[in-house]
Amino acid sequence: MELIYRGKTKDVYELKDGNYMLKFKDDVTGENGVFDPGANTVGLTIEGIGKSGLRLTKFFFEKLNLLGIPTHYLSADIEKSTMTVLPAKVFGKGVEVICRYKAVGSFLRRYGLYAKERQELNGYVEVTLKDDLRNDPLITDEALEILNIMTKEEYKILVDLARKIGEIVKSELFKKGLELYDIKFEFGRIGKDNHIALIDEISGGNMRAYQGDTYIEPFELEKIMLTK
Ligand SMILES: Nc1ncnc2c1ncn2[C@@H]1O[C@H](COP(=O)(O)OP(=O)(O)OP(=O)(O)O)[C@@H](O)[C@H]1O
Ligand SMILES: [Mg+2]
Repeated sequence: MELIYRGKTKDVYELKDGNYMLKFKDDVTGENGVFDPGANTVGLTIEGIGKSGLRLTKFFFEKLNLLGIPTHYLSADIEKSTMTVLPAKVFGKGVEVICRYKAVGSFLRRYGLYAKERQELNGYVEVTLKDDLRNDPLITDEALEILNIMTKEEYKILVDLARKIGEIVKSELFKKGLELYDIKFEFGRIGKDNHIALIDEISGGNMRAYQGDTYIEPFELEKIMLTK
């Protein structure tokens, strides 16, 4: 197998059969040693966080596959911290799709003149460009089309999928007494038909979950979600 990309929290390998393998590392995003799912730099290393993120990712992707939602997920090997997936072509150099239920984080920073902290957002979806240099700017469907990143039809499918998947994750958390504030997804085009599918991961590193007024850290989230 061949290393094709070294990411901040995962490495990507191409397997002999053409599928990809994602290796989950113990690095998490944040700033000055403080974990922040919205950050664009590796903030700290936490032993075991890679496997923990993979366990939760496996849980959610297997659920989504069973529900017939298109994803890249094939299998996971927890011991090796790896996940085998279908190769996707990302939109441009990659986009992020954020589904928001409560106003916190960058939404609040951007719209602070109007937004109240934790105000209800009903699964509002935002798309940003993966562009660390420019701090992942927010982008509209029109700009995405003008810049040849995706068509408006693709945008609609992507937003619908994000809403649907967000609801599924939210209701799984709710079953465990947790509240989902926001979650970040990645999508890509898969297969000969270039159908839009969920890629990357779903773990504590991509969402903000709360128990009452307490933010639940990724490790704790995995424990709560995966213990019966
Ligand atoms: N099925 C897939 N096909 C192709 N690329 C994928 C697939 N699943 C995930 N990826 C990509 O693999 C990479 C995983 O790396 P990682 O999560 O560490 O990166 P990141 O933290 O998003 O930041 P960056 O990509 O900017 O380094 C991401 O770029 C993601 O878009
Ligand atoms: Mg990532």
